[in-house]
Amino acid sequence: MAQFQLSGFAIIVGAAGGIGKEVAFTFAEAGAKGVLLADIDYEAAAKVAETSKGLASCPTYRALSVKVDVVDIASVQAMVDLAAKEFGRIDYCVNAAGVDVAEYVPFDQTDPDDYDRVLGINTKGIFLICRAVGKVMQSQEPKQINLGRHGTRDLGRGCIVNVSSALSLCAVPHEVPYTTSKHAVTGITRSFAMDFKAAGIRCNQVCPTWVRTPMYEEECRRNPQTPQIVKNISAVKRPLEPDEVASACLYLCSPSAVYINGTLLTMDSGILVGPS
Ligand SMILES: NC(=O)c1ccc[n+]([C@@H]2O[C@H](COP(=O)([O-])OP(=O)(O)OC[C@H]3O[C@@H](n4cnc5c(N)ncnc54)[C@H](O)[C@@H]3O)[C@@H](O)[C@H]2O)c1
Repeated sequence: MAQFQLSGFAIIVGAAGGIGKEVAFTFAEAGAKGVLLADIDYEAAAKVAETSKGLASCPTYRALSVKVDVVDIASVQAMVDLAAKEFGRIDYCVNAAGVDVAEYVPFDQTDPDDYDRVLGINTKGIFLICRAVGKVMQSQEPKQINLGRHGTRDLGRGCIVNVSSALSLCAVPHEVPYTTSKHAVTGITRSFAMDFKAAGIRCNQVCPTWVRTPMYEEECRRNPQTPQIVKNISAVKRPLEPDEVASACLYLCSPSAVYINGTLLTMDSGILVGPS
């Protein structure tokens, strides 16, 4: 669902996943001129790229796909170099790659290797991508947009949205590495916003609770009480749909959000307001 308009080029990381795929489709519908779809699962990302072409509203829309392993610095650099070379600039980057813990276990039984794996992908991966994308954005000219009756508006040099989690803001039992990784993403988002704000580059974060994707389906398989818990504690009695998260990413990249920087957008159906 494209309620806001885009006019530039994007990298979407984790584009084969439930949320990343929907972000790609939404950005294509919203007018993006080109999207580089990156994922460790190249074949799936390439299929999403093909489908996005049928949804794009920009007549010259281009969809490219690339394999990336977000924990590998050379792989991340190659992805960013490809976008910069093919598109000439990077206006938006959405970080939607991520993994869950191998097992839901208490703190004292948490496997240190799984801790490293989850923090590597969910946190260091985002750091490496923000670092490489920030350098490109810093080197490009700022953009402006004519908003008709609202006049001309500065868009800056680019923006990043990190798909984090409500577990950036609270903890749940038996998910130490995941919760820690998502809290740390907040540090990356705010640090990036701080260091790049003078250059006109924004970085924000979405913090959804459960989203109906393969990651959620796997959680339900491992923990069959999950759907009932979601029904009990969320006001709308269901998980988020991926398009709802994609719409939030679109808004944060749109000309309507140029004043929003370093922010966390919580998408939790009021769960974190407190017990009802
Ligand atoms: N689904 C939920 O309930 C939920 C809730 C809150 C936050 N999130 C977060 O949203 C993001 C997207 O999750 P999703 O639900 O779409 O999951 P998903 O499993 O559907 O997609 C994740 C994608 O990340 C890719 N990926 C994994 N490791 C990678 C690596 N090393 N390099 C590159 N790509 C890699 C996978 O191939 C997959 O396509 C994750 O960061 C997740 O933590 C998900």
